Amino acid sequence: MPKKRVAGYHQWRREFIYVFCMLGLSIILIELNSFMNWPHLPTGTTTMQDQADAVAPAQRKLAFLFVTRNRMPLDIVWSLFFQEAAKEFFSIYIHSRPGFIYNKRTTACRYFYNRQISTSILVDWGEASMIEAEKLLLVEALKDPANDRFVLVSDSCIPLYNFTYIYNYLMTSPKSFVDSFFDAKESRYNPKMAPVIQRENWRKGSQWFALKRDHAAIVAADADVFRMFQRHCKRRPLPEFWRQQSMNGDPSKQHNCIPDEHYVQTLLAIKGLEDEVERRGITFSLWDQSGRIQERKGWHPVTFALSDANVDLIRGIKNITSINYEAEYRTEWCTSNGTAQPCFLFARKFTRHAAMKLLNLTLQAI
Ligand SMILES: *[C@@H]1O[C@H](CO)[C@@H](O)[C@H](O)[C@H]1NC(C)=O
Ligand SMILES: *[C@@H]1O[C@H](CO)[C@@H](O)[C@H](O)[C@H]1NC(C)=O
Ligand SMILES: *[C@@H]1O[C@H](CO)[C@@H](O)[C@H](O)[C@H]1NC(C)=O
Ligand SMILES: *[C@@H]1O[C@H](CO)[C@@H](O)[C@H](O)[C@H]1NC(C)=O
Repeated sequence: MPKKRVAGYHQWRREFIYVFCMLGLSIILIELNSFMNWPHLPTGTTTMQDQADAVAPAQRKLAFLFVTRNRMPLDIVWSLFFQEAAKEFFSIYIHSRPGFIYNKRTTACRYFYNRQISTSILVDWGEASMIEAEKLLLVEALKDPANDRFVLVSDSCIPLYNFTYIYNYLMTSPKSFVDSFFDAKESRYNPKMAPVIQRENWRKGSQWFALKRDHAAIVAADADVFRMFQRHCKRRPLPEFWRQQSMNGDPSKQHNCIPDEHYVQTLLAIKGLEDEVERRGITFSLWDQSGRIQERKGWHPVTFALSDANVDLIRGIKNITSINYEAEYRTEWCTSNGTAQPCFLFARKFTRHAAMKLLNLTLQAI
């Protein structure tokens, strides 16, 4: 009798161990499986970035990166824009003058409170420091593993659609959006940039990008191409300042590079990633072709004031479905993940009064 009891006990223990082992094995297999399906497998050197990538986010966020000086003139517009969105769907980072703090006293948009990055620098017109500001914003935004798309906006930008529309447009696209064309203009490419930047990879376009996470990480991490821009890509001073600069030879013969309108597009071309990019911008601007001084034509986007801001202007911009790149004989039919879409999600430059007048037209469908 006791013997049987012992045998039963042993058998029960064997079965228990067996079940326990199978359970353990299946847990290991499930873990292994989800590990293999991980979207960003950490490879090679484990950096802080890789660790951030290894956390599966509950909800993918759209990160808004603002470049501004100090106050946000269109803060009321953005306040209404973000009001509609649940906070787990977006995040905000602001590069402003160092030391400027967003709080109740400095902005009417509570979503901006304390969203200034602490690493901000002084941005000089025409220098590579504007690119540096963009890189610093990306570095901060990449620290949140939930941030999945990164859109750069200026303080004179307005959204053309509501949050949901813009979020879906960018999130469903497997590609980044970067305005980019081959730039053959001799005056902008400096051969001293070779071999880091070869002429065939030299690109131009507007600086207002929307990047997916792996592209954002590449831009944030790049040091080599950025160094070439610091050394050899500078914006030539405006004609009215030429006399002051004449010590450096004939200013009309200097390279007029405009760093922020070349950097991201050129870097992605060098890395061979143009297949993963919709080569067009999502931010509309109208270039001023009316300048009296030839040298100045097309240098500045038009600022829309109160009298220009009307339904037809916004309808017209929203109705654009293709962009013509004359230099490349290329017409970019605007799509996102293969379906035809309006080209532009944002537009600039708007004064505060113009933007307020347009509020009803942009956030509600027209
Ligand atoms: C992109 O388009 C493909 C094919 O139409 C579709 O299967 C896929 O679900 C789309 N992706 C997203 C994220 O919407
Ligand atoms: C939109 O574009 C189409 C074709 O380009 C044009 O026929 C139509 O009049 C435009 N509509 C508006 C409201 O601008
Ligand atoms: C916007 O629309 C609301 C009602 O829909 C109206 O009360 C308000 O006056 C409009 N604002 C402007 C600036 O048109
Ligand atoms: C957002 O905008 C889209 C397109 O303009 C519209 O169809 C949709 O109803 C809007 N959603 C809300 C919540 O207003």
